[in-house]
Amino acid sequence: MNAVLFIAFGLLSGALGASLPAKQQTQITNKKFPSSFLWGTATASAQIEGAWNEDGKGESIWDHWLHEDPSRSDDHKNADVACDSYHKWREDIQLLKELGVKLYRFSIAWPRILPTGYLDSYNQAGVDYYVNFVKELLANDITPLVTLYHWDLPQTLQEQGGWLNDSTADRFGEYARIVFQNLGPYVKLWTTVNEPHTTCTEGYGNGEMAPGIKMIGDGIYQCARTQILAHAIGYHIYHDEFAATQGGKVSLVLDATYNMPATDSEDDKTATEWEYEFNLGWFAHPIYIGNWPQIMIDRVAKRSAMEGLSGSRLPAWSDDEIEFVKGTFDFFGLNHYTSTIVSAIDEPAAGEPNFYLDTGVSTTHGDDWVNSTASWLWSYPYGMRGLLNYVWKNYNPGEIYVTENGWSSDPTLNDQTRIDYLQGYLSNMLDAILEDGVNVAGYTTWSFMDNFEWAKGYTQRYGIINVDFDSDNRTRTFKDSAKWYQRTVSTYCLVEQCEE
Ligand code: NOJ
Repeated sequence: MNAVLFIAFGLLSGALGASLPAKQQTQITNKKFPSSFLWGTATASAQIEGAWNEDGKGESIWDHWLHEDPSRSDDHKNADVACDSYHKWREDIQLLKELGVKLYRFSIAWPRILPTGYLDSYNQAGVDYYVNFVKELLANDITPLVTLYHWDLPQTLQEQGGWLNDSTADRFGEYARIVFQNLGPYVKLWTTVNEPHTTCTEGYGNGEMAPGIKMIGDGIYQCARTQILAHAIGYHIYHDEFAATQGGKVSLVLDATYNMPATDSEDDKTATEWEYEFNLGWFAHPIYIGNWPQIMIDRVAKRSAMEGLSGSRLPAWSDDEIEFVKGTFDFFGLNHYTSTIVSAIDEPAAGEPNFYLDTGVSTTHGDDWVNSTASWLWSYPYGMRGLLNYVWKNYNPGEIYVTENGWSSDPTLNDQTRIDYLQGYLSNMLDAILEDGVNVAGYTTWSFMDNFEWAKGYTQRYGIINVDFDSDNRTRTFKDSAKWYQRTVSTYCLVEQCEE
């Protein structure tokens, strides 16, 4: 990173915390969740399965990136074995049953189905694995919520440019069609791509995640465009070819922070809108409303002009593309972990093109917020209610599934901080449902079990179930939070005794 950028990052990341509304001193509600509420847990293929090259599976970008240079993850470990769920899937389903959850969000490894990403590499063993898996879930009365792309792109497609190449969206469509054909009779809840915001900023922006590309001024936007197109192609394939007979729903999973202005000033309020648009609107606006957010169009155009470029670094959508993408949702899949406090800053001087300079705000967290073992994850329980309301009002999705929400700790079984976090966030979720009328149909906490946390390796544990990564057996043990969650999902109540 050059000196100018380094200074800009220092400025934007806001080293100092700030004091904010005491809204976060949440009183845990003693009301009950609606009896129709679907309680669940979540994982992703690349983070739990292991068996990275078994039964015909192709190499994914994460396999490739960490095999090429193990030091790219904090503990120099990879996901070759991870939780070994590829072999232990029956045991895992029994654990889900023991927890009492009715919904399980997991993902399909694209390179198990199409090892090279191309149709001629079709791998029946991969398809069979997931068909057996969803049948077993259903036999145990657990509804599958399936993500098609949770970051394990076939490496062969990366070699053609990955998400910088529009044709990857077409390859995604071909893959999605195979999965719908084979699993569609059993699966009724689908999400196409998971957290494109994260894969584009980290995988194509700062290069801290696979495939490690550093194109923070332009590749990042191309990545977003291709993933949005991939999502829309998958959505249309489902609705044109399968929905009538299979009757399922399709959306995508977007991650978002709840953002609040540091002061009541108009400048900070405007900055907060900008933060929302560059964080969530970037993806939600094209799909739920149509086209990029206007603020994003204007800001990237302005900064591109300041940089002396002849056009905007933000790729424009054609009118046909806007129509093709708009409305491609049947619900909203929301991942929410943390919140930010936003301040306006002076327009940063023109320098190297940079997404964060395009956003043009400063963000921080509150002085009194509790930090997890992940530096970015601070607890602000009210954020759940605030964000659900934001999504409900701005995107009008009809129905929301909270597809991820969770806490990073050390591997301890006595994880009271996780219970505190979940209790506070769930209480605010229930307030959003009962007090504000937001339709949240289900919730899959992240994560069912400790797993491979990408470039953090196994140093950050999100599971409510502990996994002993030192044992060949990858022994699973309920943490206190799993016991707490077990009780919660059976009583629909967050405290000892709820009002009837
Ligand atoms: C979101 C991602 O979808 C998931 O893969 C990751 O493990 C969690 N956040 C925690 O960082």
